[in-house]
Amino acid sequence: MSDPSNLIREALGAIAKASTEGELETITLDYLGRKSGQITKLLTGIGQLAPAQRAALGQSANEAKRAIEAALANRRAELEGARLADIAETEAIDVTFPGPPLGRGHVHVLTQVQRQIETVLESLGYKVELGPEVETEWYNFEALNISAGHPARENWDSFYFTPQLLLRAHTSPVQIRAMQRLKEPPIYIITPGRCYRRDAPEATRLPYFSQVEGLAVDRGLTVGDMKGTLLYMIQSLYGSERKVRVRPSYFPFTEPSFEFDVSCGICGGAGCKSCRHKGWLEVGGCGMVHPQVLRNGGIDPEKWNGYAWGFGIERMAMLKHDVDDIRLLYESDLRFLEQF
Ligand code: PHE
Repeated sequence: MSDPSNLIREALGAIAKASTEGELETITLDYLGRKSGQITKLLTGIGQLAPAQRAALGQSANEAKRAIEAALANRRAELEGARLADIAETEAIDVTFPGPPLGRGHVHVLTQVQRQIETVLESLGYKVELGPEVETEWYNFEALNISAGHPARENWDSFYFTPQLLLRAHTSPVQIRAMQRLKEPPIYIITPGRCYRRDAPEATRLPYFSQVEGLAVDRGLTVGDMKGTLLYMIQSLYGSERKVRVRPSYFPFTEPSFEFDVSCGICGGAGCKSCRHKGWLEVGGCGMVHPQVLRNGGIDPEKWNGYAWGFGIERMAMLKHDVDDIRLLYESDLRFLEQF
C-alpha cells in the first residue's frame, strides 16, 4: 500500500507541472476520485488494519487529501491568472495606434460642373444667390408672370404641399427674391440649385434636377450682352471652338424669349449621330426680363432692364462628359463616379 507522504510528493509534482485546467482535472481524479482515486483507495483499505494503525493512517491520508486539494486550488488560480494576463496582452487595444487610412473620395461630377460654372460667372462679376427649394406659388409662378390658369403652368408642374406651397419647379423664383433683397441695380447674380418636376425617371429626365439661373439687371442691357455672356460661359466650359445660337421661344417671364443651343463638340456643327444630325445641342432658355417681372421684384422697368437665362446642370455635365443617361448621375455607382 502506498505511503501518504509519497502520494503527496507525487501529486504535488504533477500539479506543479500541469499547465491546463484539463490536466488538473485528471490529477484530481487520480488522487481524489471517489472510486479509484489513490487517497480514496488508501482509506478503503484502512478497515483491515489494527485500530492503532488505523487512526494514524486515517489522519495522514486526510492530511494528504487536504494538501493535494490546496495545491490544486493554488495551481488553478495561477493558471487562471496567467490566462487573463495573456488575454490582456494579446487583445489589448492601443488607442493611440493610427487607424487604417480612409479611402480618398472626390467631389461628385455634378458639383464639379456646378463649381466650374460658378467660377466662370464669378469671374464676370456675378454673385451666387441661393433660394429655398420649398417655394410659394407666388414666387414660383405668379411673380414670374404665370398667373393661375395660364397654360404654361403645365411646363412647371411640381409637387404641392398645399395649393400655396410647392417644391420649386425652376430656379427663376430666386430672380424675384434677389431683386427684392438687393433692391438697387446693378444686379448680377447666378442661382444654382435643386428643382423638382412631376416627371417619371427616364434617360433624359428625373423628377429632381439642378439648374443654374443667371440674372442681370442694369441700364440698357441688350440681347447681345446676354448672348455674349452665354458664349463666354460655354467657351470657358467646353472650349473656344464652341458656338452658341439663340432661337425664338416663349417664356412668360422674358420678352423676347429664346432657347440657346451649343454647337456639337463631336462634329463641330456639321451634324453627326450624337447631335441627331442637327449640329446643335439644346442647353437652356433665356431672354430679356419681362417688365412685369421687374415690377414684381420691386424694380422700375422705366429705368432698368435685364436679361436672364436658366439651364440644367445635369445636362451640362452630360454634354461635357458624354453621359447618355441622366439617372447615372444619381445612382451613386462608384464605377461611374470614379471616372470623373
Ligand atoms: N426657368 C426656365 C425653365 O426652367 C428657364 C429660363 C430661365 C428661361 C430664365 C428664361 C429665363 O425652363
